[in-house]
Amino acid sequence: MELKNKVAYITGGSKGIGFAVAKSLLQQGMKVAISGRNLKTVKNAAAKLGYEDAVLTLQSDVTQYSAEDKAVKEILKKWGHLDVVLANAGVGHFAPVDDLEIADWHQMVNTNLTGVFFTLKASVDALKATKGYYMTLASLAGTNFFASGAGYNATKFGVVGFTQAAMLDLRKYGIKVTTIMPGSVATHFNDNEPSEKDAWKIQPEDIGNMVVDLLKMHPRTLPSKIEVRPTRPDLK
Ligand SMILES: NC(=O)c1ccc[n+]([C@@H]2O[C@H](COP(=O)([O-])OP(=O)(O)OC[C@H]3O[C@@H](n4cnc5c(N)ncnc54)[C@H](OP(=O)(O)O)[C@@H]3O)[C@@H](O)[C@H]2O)c1
Repeated sequence: MELKNKVAYITGGSKGIGFAVAKSLLQQGMKVAISGRNLKTVKNAAAKLGYEDAVLTLQSDVTQYSAEDKAVKEILKKWGHLDVVLANAGVGHFAPVDDLEIADWHQMVNTNLTGVFFTLKASVDALKATKGYYMTLASLAGTNFFASGAGYNATKFGVVGFTQAAMLDLRKYGIKVTTIMPGSVATHFNDNEPSEKDAWKIQPEDIGNMVVDLLKMHPRTLPSKIEVRPTRPDLK
């Protein structure tokens, strides 16, 4: 894919991985719409990114289909086409299953799993038109289960299955579909404050570079499921 002037939509682009991917795509000359639940937070992120007119700020809670539909329509109105969608927004609540709060379960399922479907549902016609690329941000938690992860594991195993099946449905339209499954990334996830202590983790810009590499890959080749982990977790 020639990236200059291509249009991307990144859910949860106000910080962390989504923000870093936005930066990488902008550096390639792409136009990028970023979303989050709070418009002020998204606008602050856009100010940090720079690139002025190449960035569109959207308030959209991915748990609401109508919000995702409106977000995609705003992108099409501004730029006329949509080439890349990264369903990245996600939350994590970690507790032994007997202590897991019902509200936390619902928030994870509605955001991490249903939200990913809503983002695809709202954008799939636009992606068919451009033979675009749809990616999800799953996790190694989508293949490795762990204690206190029952709710989060359930959503990320779900995202991996969802994305792989979607890949089989959509590739005949020329749409590429990939799920990226990182281990620990130095972000604000789960109330983390990124700092020196996170130097051993994958850095968000590493995922940004990976997304650029995927977009530039030859059209005939599709890495559909990518596990990525810190090289030296022993340095934790
Ligand atoms: N960090 C890791 O170690 C790691 C590892 C593997 C996978 N992941 C996955 O990577 C993705 C990004 O996480 P991150 O690490 O970058 O975390 P982060 O720094 O906390 O960023 C999460 C982003 O998601 C947005 N968001 C949350 N709920 C949303 C909703 N309902 N609607 C729209 N946006 C929403 C947040 O924006 P607002 O709060 O402004 O709405 C924020 O921009 C998640 O799916 C996470 O599960 C993370």
